[in-house]
Parts: sequence; structure tokens; C-alpha cells
Amino acid sequence: KKVVLAYSGGLDTSIILKWLETEYGAEVITFTADLGQGEELAPAKEKALKLGIKPENIFIDDLREEFVRDFIFPMFRANTVYEGQYLLGTSIARPLIAKRQIEIAKMVGADAVCHGATGKGNDQVRFELGYYGLSPDIRVIAPWREWDFKSREALLDFAEKHQIPIAKDKRGESPFSVDANLLHSSSEGKVLEDPAVEAPEFVHQRTIAPEDAPDVATVITISYEKGDPVAIDGVAMSPAEILTKLNQLGHDNGIGRLDLVENRFVGMKSRGVYETPGGTIMLAAHRGIESITLDRGAMHLKDELMPKYASLVYNGFWFSPEREMLQAAIDKSQEKVSGTVRVKLYKGNTTIIGRESPNSLYDQELVTFEEGAVAYDHKDAEGFIKLNALRLRVLAKRDNREG
Ligand code: ARG
Ligand code: SIN
Repeated sequence: KKVVLAYSGGLDTSIILKWLETEYGAEVITFTADLGQGEELAPAKEKALKLGIKPENIFIDDLREEFVRDFIFPMFRANTVYEGQYLLGTSIARPLIAKRQIEIAKMVGADAVCHGATGKGNDQVRFELGYYGLSPDIRVIAPWREWDFKSREALLDFAEKHQIPIAKDKRGESPFSVDANLLHSSSEGKVLEDPAVEAPEFVHQRTIAPEDAPDVATVITISYEKGDPVAIDGVAMSPAEILTKLNQLGHDNGIGRLDLVENRFVGMKSRGVYETPGGTIMLAAHRGIESITLDRGAMHLKDELMPKYASLVYNGFWFSPEREMLQAAIDKSQEKVSGTVRVKLYKGNTTIIGRESPNSLYDQELVTFEEGAVAYDHKDAEGFIKLNALRLRVLAKRDNREG
């Protein structure tokens, strides 16, 4: 039996690897993706080899460009935010990992796939909805829901017995759980579990504190084409290069920190500390370019659809007809969303200070307080207001609000 395991090279997925061999007698194929988590992939390969995986069964893929181009950018076209704050950095990565795992399973003729998410969270749902959505009859193995290690100690004993190297600091429990990729780093659990207690500074990994950021603002321009950023300060870059650059700028200016309590799909509340430096800048900049290029009707409809779209991404329904329907509508709205936005970065803040576009709908002649504008007659406003007020006047009469 062949199983494709989403393998990070860390202790937990190494234990899963051995467990699949001993418990299922499976031939394990490891898949490690570079999604911009900032870790070298070579050690994961070394570890898989050391654990006895055949070289032809080790898959290492750099998915950064695909991740940004086909997942992150489409999501940012919708200005997607879950529960008003979360930029979905973990949620958006899961469908891509699932997709690649299924592709590898087909390539090597595996009948099962396996992930290392716990049985309490969102990630198990996202991985598995992805698997089933792309391969309806695939066999899914979720070790955290299946094995009967009763404690961290039991898990570590199993590791020791199977010669899985345990870093010294891993004997004690790690202080919190981390997931990272090009879009964000998230930290949950352990020292963060009490939502009344402020997160210690050491939890943060990809931003400096706003208090420590420079006293001088950084100003950049971001160029957009059809809703996607394509250049910074006039320098054209690939999607992953743009996000990498914005992450650096965000890091240096203390931008994108978030401490929140969110509602998991499985029904519990959880507390997380997230850092999304580049994403936070992109969200503001995209709204900036939309503000002059989108019509009000289109913009407001997008804003109504967005929470629905965000829930679909959060809950793991990336590969669903309703997400694709919404995407088609959102993408259609972006046809004229091109131009440049000037952005000021300063001590945790992202401020739009200028926007320009050949497709601008902004009409200075129309809006000016000075005399001008032929298309707008002040007299029209009187009837416009009176008719809109009609209901309110009828109500006021009935409810005796007149003195
Ligand atoms: N709560 C976030 C989400 O559901 C992040 C989950 C993974 N993070 C982690 N630290 N294990 O998308
Ligand atoms: C996990 O449970 O594996 C991480 C947290 C989550 O998926 O919500």
C-alpha cells in the first residue's frame, strides 16, 4: 500500500511517517512543499532519507509562484477577510498542498494520502475537502484522529524507539504551534491559550514591533493590473517576488500583526497571533486602486459577497462550485482595476496617500466645491432628497415626531 504524506521534516510528521510504516505496513511517499515558510527544504529530504525513504519516493516542490498567482492573488481580488480581521494565511495554503498531494498520488499510483493536522482544527477539514474534491475515492489517513498515543511522552518514546532524532528543545513541549508560508505566520496554543493574556513578544517571527519601527516613514508605489499587483516602485516582479518584497517592507515597519479569537469551522473558538506583513499592505493598496476604478454598484456588491467568499476559504471549500462562481464574478469586476497606488508605511500603519489610473472614474470636475460641472444640476438634488425622504416623513407623521 502506498501513502503520500504531507511531510514537513519536523518531529510530528516524522513520527507519522514511521507510524504509517509500522501501523499500516505502508510504503510512504513524502511530499514537502516550499510555500515560502522560510525553511530550507534540503533538511527535509535528508531526514526522509535517514528515515529510510527511497530517493524516488521523496517529492520536494517549490510552489511559491503558483501559491501566490493562483491562490493568494485571486483571494485578494475579493479583499477577503474572515470575521473582519483574519487574512486567511493558513486557510488559503491547504487546498494547494492537497492538490499537489493528489497529483503525486496519481503519479506514483498511491491509494491513500495523509496529513498531520489535529482532529480538533480547521486544517483537517481543508486538507480532506481538497482531497475528496479532487479525487472522490481517495483513502484519507489522519493519524491524529487514529492513533492512541495518550501523551506527548508516549509519542516521544515511539520516536526514540524508531530512531527519529529529537532536537534537545523538543523534549520539553514546544511553547506554541506555528504554521508559516509566504502570506503569513500563525501561532496558536500553549502560552497563547488564555485570551485575556497578552502574547509575549517572542511569539512574533516576521515583524518587528511597531514601537521599534523607524521614526521615518517609507513611501512606495504599487502598480496594479486587472486587480493584481505587478510592480513596486516601477520595478516589474513576479507574484512571489512582489509578496516577498512587501513582506520585507512590512517587517521593517512593524506592519500586519494581529491577535484575535476566531470561530473554527468545527465549532470552537480559538485564539491566534498572526503576522501578515505583505498581505496587510496588499489589502490596503488593492482597496486604494479599486476606490477610483470600480463603480459603486460593483464595489458594494463585492463587499456583500466577500464574507461568504471568506467563509468558503476558511471552511475549506476552495474547490467548490460556489467559490468558483464567486471568483468569476470577482474577476469580472477587476477588468479595469489597473493603475498605481502610493502607500506610506509607518510604525504598524499602512496609509494610502495617492492613487492614479487611466481607468479612473474619479471626476474632479464633478465633485469640486468650486463652480463647474455640467452633468450635475443642484436643482436635481432637491427632488432626489424629497423622494427619498417621503417614507421618513410619513413615518414621522404617524409616530408623532413633529413636536
Ligand atoms: N487558525 C488558523 C486557521 O484556521 C491557523 C491554523 C494553523 N495554525 C497553527 N498555528 N497550527 O486558518
Ligand atoms: C490543527 O489543529 O492542526 C491546527 C489548527 C487548525 O487546524 O485549526
